Amino acid sequence: MSAEQCPMRIPVKRDGVFDPPPELAELRTHTPVAPLTYADGHVGWIVTSYRLAREVLQDPRFSSRPELRHSAVHEVLGDGSPPEEDVPGMFVGMDPPEHTRYRKLLTGELSVRRMRQLEERIEATAHRLIDELSTPARRADLVPEFAAPLPSLVICDLLGIPYPEWERIRPVSEHMLRTDSTADQVKECYRAIFEFLGEAVERQRKQPQDDLLGGLVQVGGLSDVELTSIAFQLFTAGHETTANMLSLGTFTLLTHPGQLAALKADPALLHGAVEELLRYLTVIQFGISRGAREDVELGGVTVKAGQTVTISLPAANRDPERFADPDVFDIRRPAAGNLAFGFGVHQCVAQQLARAEMRIGYRALFDRLPGLALAVPADRVETRTTEIVYGIKSLPVTW
Ligand code: HEM
Repeated sequence: MSAEQCPMRIPVKRDGVFDPPPELAELRTHTPVAPLTYADGHVGWIVTSYRLAREVLQDPRFSSRPELRHSAVHEVLGDGSPPEEDVPGMFVGMDPPEHTRYRKLLTGELSVRRMRQLEERIEATAHRLIDELSTPARRADLVPEFAAPLPSLVICDLLGIPYPEWERIRPVSEHMLRTDSTADQVKECYRAIFEFLGEAVERQRKQPQDDLLGGLVQVGGLSDVELTSIAFQLFTAGHETTANMLSLGTFTLLTHPGQLAALKADPALLHGAVEELLRYLTVIQFGISRGAREDVELGGVTVKAGQTVTISLPAANRDPERFADPDVFDIRRPAAGNLAFGFGVHQCVAQQLARAEMRIGYRALFDRLPGLALAVPADRVETRTTEIVYGIKSLPVTW
């Protein structure tokens, strides 16, 4: 039986805590565009080389529309897209020119002024969380006490949501992103979050705040559903990604003492360290997907119209043709150009915000807690192997 008749499922099992499944490197070397069986039985493709990943992501013949994309890991979840189609304003699942209008509005709101304002707030929040950590016991779990709340507080700031309100909806949000939730559960979570964010939009309509959502309300021309959709996408995309980069990134630095010592000795290495952590860890572990609108020749194969292509961001970011010694974590390497935030028109709209959260978060932790160390052996730290966003479940530390 040929590979085309019985293709593999997406590899999940890792050998090392920081390394993507080893089959991905094997594919990249021998079959950089390989047939892949999706969770619902659809047969599409997986792309593992850096060059071809970029090629797909900038080719308008590949679409982001949810009806053209099957999920490699979940029978009903299109890689985090909402389960209902054609909700106005869901620009993550749109192609240009429809997508462009929303994207421009959002980049306009993530202006230099707003970024500066946000950075001050992130700094203050990071320090407050550390103040609250500093108990006489000098022991904490950094996931619930630092890495998870920091990005949540930032999203609340963007959308004008009081933090206690967020605490109320958090379990629903976590449930929605689990790969073992049923279609009905996902739909129910989606409905509850949409309703929750609809209330935030209503409050902003009555009295717009000086935050991102308030800004979008004042720009005008967007319906309540469109505003709620935009809020929904920021809400779902902004928590787990950044939270896991903060916790897994801290874990990486703590287990690479030479790199951490270099960073502490020369704070100017921080920008590069963040970029290298993004590359090395690439937490969107099953990649992102696109659907072919027409037959496309790609890396020596024909992707047929209607087939889904998964772009393995972790594999592309470990491609030795693009990054020398890609499996080595080296904060001095030029890691810019990595695909952790994707590539092309959908490349993460909030990447500068995410980078700022990481820079400020790591700096606050290592400056304020200079003796920071793991409180358990590294091999006892439990990983999130089946979640859409890779990371760790807890990070017990002392200082
Ligand atoms: C380290 C943290 C983050 C990572 C690794 C990350 C990664 C990504 C990736 C790979 C994409 C591209 C998806 C695709 O092409 O299909 C994306 C898009 C997006 N991200 Fe992020 N992201 C992060 C943080 C954030 C934050 C903090 C927010 C919001 C506050 C956010 C909001 C979005 C949105 C709205 C999109 C869709 C953009 C579009 O379709 O034009 N992300 N992100």
